[in-house]
Amino acid sequence: MKSMDPRPIGVCDSGLGGLTAVRRLRQVLPEEDIVFLGDTGRLPYGGRSPETILRYAKEDLAFLLGQNVKAVVVACGTVSSIALPLLKELPVPVRGVVEGAAKRASAVTKNRRVGILGTEAAIRAGAYVRALRALCPEVRTLAVACPRFVPLIEAGHTDPEDAPLRAAAEEYLEPIRDFGADAVILGCTHYPLISAAIRDCLREQTALVDVAAEAVDGLKRLLAEQGALCRRSGKGSLNCHVTGSPEHFAALAGRFLPEEGHFSVRQILLEEQERDR
Ligand code: DGL
Repeated sequence: MKSMDPRPIGVCDSGLGGLTAVRRLRQVLPEEDIVFLGDTGRLPYGGRSPETILRYAKEDLAFLLGQNVKAVVVACGTVSSIALPLLKELPVPVRGVVEGAAKRASAVTKNRRVGILGTEAAIRAGAYVRALRALCPEVRTLAVACPRFVPLIEAGHTDPEDAPLRAAAEEYLEPIRDFGADAVILGCTHYPLISAAIRDCLREQTALVDVAAEAVDGLKRLLAEQGALCRRSGKGSLNCHVTGSPEHFAALAGRFLPEEGHFSVRQILLEEQERDR
């Protein structure tokens, strides 16, 4: 079959959370090549100021554009919440994670009560709440910042029986359960990696929204409309770039992408890190 646009799709996040977008890309667009950037040397982003997050986001996107990508998934709830205007300026199609997640949550909630989990910076920015209200003005929301989740996940604490993870999950999810949300937006892309621990703390019927998966589905529709999908057969490549330890990333990434087989992980430095060296 003819290749329509064989250039890779770029995915960026501060770390492992971006793999939830990679996972979805493999499910719905398996033949696409993927260039992944995890700014693991500077995570977590979620406790930083909007100015710093914006600066980091610009460097992340500049790196991906330098890799000749045809489109970008900003697989980070924190960056997507803060850098929306920046995302609109890019020369290739870009999908953040807020809009698709809000659409999905407003479609699945029956009782119009939606919980939102995210990093401190994302919750403070309020982008998920605004996007939900724009779609569904009568929706009631409860947004909870979960600052301990990203460091726990990046340190490998993802087993639902893990004591520090359980303690954090119970603390963050109790108010959401009491609020009676029947849909919960996992507003940080790291959180689907601990969905078992999160589920254990919620009512059985609660729908969890995987924000990166929604973004990837939106990008797939867009690339199809533009005739820019890659029509090669066979599985595409996955090339990961991280600003922290490549060994640590490779070990954990393998756990979350068990079917990926071979993928490369290289260490790089982004602009500001080069300057500070
Ligand atoms: N996965 C990022 C997000 O979606 C985590 C941000 C962080 O590093 O704190 O928000």
